[in-house]
Amino acid sequence: MKILLYGSTGMLGSDCLEVFKEEFDVVAPTHKEVDIIKWDSVIENLQKNRPDVIVNCAGFTSVDECENEDLDFMINKVNVEGPRNMAQGSARFESKMVHISSDYVFNGKKMPPQPYFEDDPPDPICKYGRTKAESEAAIRDNAPDYIIIRTGWLYGLRGKNFVKSIIKQAVKNRRKTLTVVEDQIGSPTWTYSLAKQIKLMIKSDANGTYHVTSEGYCTRLEFAQFIIDKLNLKVKLKPCKLSEYPQKARRPLNCILENRLLKQHDLNIMPDWKEDLDLFLEKYGDLLIKEAKEKRKKKK
Ligand SMILES: NC(=O)c1ccc[n+]([C@@H]2O[C@H](COP(=O)([O-])OP(=O)(O)OC[C@H]3O[C@@H](n4cnc5c(N)ncnc54)[C@H](OP(=O)(O)O)[C@@H]3O)[C@@H](O)[C@H]2O)c1
Repeated sequence: MKILLYGSTGMLGSDCLEVFKEEFDVVAPTHKEVDIIKWDSVIENLQKNRPDVIVNCAGFTSVDECENEDLDFMINKVNVEGPRNMAQGSARFESKMVHISSDYVFNGKKMPPQPYFEDDPPDPICKYGRTKAESEAAIRDNAPDYIIIRTGWLYGLRGKNFVKSIIKQAVKNRRKTLTVVEDQIGSPTWTYSLAKQIKLMIKSDANGTYHVTSEGYCTRLEFAQFIIDKLNLKVKLKPCKLSEYPQKARRPLNCILENRLLKQHDLNIMPDWKEDLDLFLEKYGDLLIKEAKEKRKKKK
């Protein structure tokens, strides 16, 4: 099977590249090689490669930067027009389209631990979430055969993420206190496990909109505490409310997604969040601490 993968230098895309290569023939153009906002470039690339499946891990992912009005045009191009170009191309060249969306398409007002299901109505409360909801519509309207994957709270070896941010702050503030949100709740999800799940969904010819996160849930504070304990980092955590935490974009409080369709189709291989995070930190914790220390030294 031939896969055309966009965003392969990003956090999720790089793990998809590694996992897909084990079984698929993968073509992974970089941003420089194919800019997804350029229709001609996307179509030419599809014509050249004729993939069975297009997987889109590309996107503008900084939730706070999305609130910057000066960037509206560009963010809309990357997060909505790019996926639309691919979806139109997928119709023309009869490829399946796999697109990554987000828990931030929901308003997060459900009372935890009630999860969001695939057929709950999107109601984003920040610009990033709105672009992801619009990207979903662009896929549904244009791609005859698609998988939309809503996920959230991703961490991995590459790119910026919560795990790295906690390690970085702990290295910077040894024996001090870090303030972490106690009332936002979701499911920490390792990009490597998500990539394996996506591979299985492609092989099983799944289609439609799926929720895909690790099993179980926790608050941001519990997520941070797990990292601190596992890596024996010498900092204390101080809880605060999401509404008090200084961030540009509003975020949903409840980010729990139920993998209901995956379970109904007997495809769910997502592990428990604690087991997976434990494995990730066991494998890469020391490396991430070393990297954070080196970056800090360079800054000084
Ligand atoms: N991170 C999360 O917690 C999270 C949660 C839910 C959903 N998601 C979704 O999951 C997907 C992957 O997220 P991620 O965190 O892995 O992203 P990421 O690390 O920020 O990577 C984004 C990728 O997109 C590429 N890209 C950006 N603009 C492009 C363009 N115009 N043309 C071609 N490529 C372009 C980037 O390449 P360059 O770096 O070379 O520009 C990079 O490879 C996104 O759709 C995101 O919305 C993420």
